Formats: sequence, C-alpha cells, structure tokens
Amino acid sequence: MNQTAERPSQELILALSKGRIFEETMPLLEAAGITVLEDPETSRKLILPTNKPQVRVIIVRATDVPTYVQYGAADFGVAGKDVLQENGSTGLYQPIDLQIARCRLSVAVKKDFDYEKAIRQGARLRVASKYVQAAREHFAKKGIHVDIIKLYGSMELAPLVGLSDVIVDLVSTGNTLKANNLVEVEQIQEITSRLIVNQASLKLKRQMLQPILDAFKAASTYSE
Ligand code: ATP
Ligand code: PRP
Ligand code: MG
Repeated sequence: MNQTAERPSQELILALSKGRIFEETMPLLEAAGITVLEDPETSRKLILPTNKPQVRVIIVRATDVPTYVQYGAADFGVAGKDVLQENGSTGLYQPIDLQIARCRLSVAVKKDFDYEKAIRQGARLRVASKYVQAAREHFAKKGIHVDIIKLYGSMELAPLVGLSDVIVDLVSTGNTLKANNLVEVEQIQEITSRLIVNQASLKLKRQMLQPILDAFKAASTYSE
C-alpha cells in the first residue's frame, strides 16, 4: 500500500475533489507558486495541468482522495478529517492541518423530537449517517443503543420521512438544517481538511515536495 505507482520520478500529482476543497486549496497552491490552468467546474478533464509542467492536479471524489494517495497514484492530496477517520488513513503522512473546509460533525433531530427525553427513557435510536464509524463511536461512548442506517448523502431528509430519529452530519452555517426544520443537539467534533502525503513520495521526491509543503504550512497558518 505504501508505494509509489509507476510514474516518472520527476512529476508530482496532487489529488483534489471538486468544489470547496479545490476552491479552498487554490490560494495555498498559489502561495507555492502553482496555478492550475483549467477549472474543474467547466472542464471535463480529470487531469489538470498547472503552470509547472512537473505538477498536475487530478480530480477525484472526496472519499477517494486517500485511496489515490495511499497507492501512490497521487503523491499528495487534500482530504477532510471526516473522510480520513471514516475510511482509514493507513500509510499516509498527514503533515499539515490546512484549516480549510471548516465544519463540524453534529447530531441533529427534527425540531419536535425530544432528544433528551428519548435518551432518558433509554429508547433505541435510529441514526442515519454517512459517518457510520463516528456515529457508532459517539453513541457507544454515551452508552446509547442505536441502529445505524448508512446513507451516502442528503442525510437531512431521513428524519423528515421517518427513516431515522436522528442524523449525524456535517454542519457549517446551519442553513441546511434550518431549511429542513432540524436542530443541532450535539456537536461531536470540529472538522478541517488535511494535507496527506504518500510516504514513499515523501522520501523519494522530498526535494520537489518540501517547498510546496512549506508554502502550504505558512499560508494555512497565516490565514488562521
Ligand atoms: P461527494 O459529493 O463526492 O459525495 P462530499 O459531499 O464529501 O463528496 P464535499 O461536499 O466537497 O464533498 O466535501 C468535502 C469535504 O469538505 C468534506 O469531507 C468535509 O471535510 C468538508 N465539508 C463538507 N461539507 C462542508 C460544509 N458545509 N462546510 C465546510 N466544509 C464542509
Ligand atoms: C454539506 C453537508 C450538509 C451541509 C451543511 O453538504 O452534507 O448538508 O453541507 O452545511 P451548512 O450548515 O452550511 O448548510 P454539501 O453542501 O457538501 O452538499 P452535498 O449534499 O452535495 O454534499
Ligand atoms: Mg458535500
């Protein structure tokens, strides 16, 4: 797993997901002197060139970023702590919390659901979430029995149509909860995105990688 895929040793591939991770990583790349030459929102290309011929950006699903980096198909990438926790991060070096894509993992319920009462009564809770591990761990710590229903998105819908009593999902502004008549009842943890680096790449391509890591670190610290 901890390997570099068969690629030229003089090239660097950065794995990013479209949307907020791509957008919030751009200023950090700029700080490292790297400009991505195509916009993933308009281009159908999955490999994007940069102003540095030896650096390219690949566009993958957010949950696939660690996989590409673990196998060395990408040298480095940016992934949320939620993704790293849920899908494992074996063999990945995580040198920098980039402080981007900031949100929190929370428990939410329908406005009229009495969460505290349900807990007091020892009710078995039905929990819908994409974050099965984090949800299981959270409720186990609290000694609450739960049935977990795995979803892949739109968690906010589950309590509205009776699929679950509660959801465990990411919250940032709270607008999505509000729009769906849900309220946040517990904050489980703060989430930010991390730079992840393939361990073999770090050793074999240190000269190319280190200046970029340093620039990312400086830019993410100053923007705190
Ligand atoms: P996909 O759409 O492919 O299933 P996704 O929904 O996980 O993926 P994004 O919404 O771009 O993809 O989320 C990427 C990362 O950004 C998440 O893993 C999380 O760490 C963070 N994130 C998710 N939602 C928010 C939000 N509302 N505000 C800030 N950061 C967020
Ligand atoms: C994420 C998350 C919540 C929402 C929370 O969805 O899954 O639904 O953001 O953000 P808020 O508190 O600011 O409303 P996203 O925007 O990524 O949409 P998605 O369903 O396409 O993942
Ligand atoms: Mg999302």
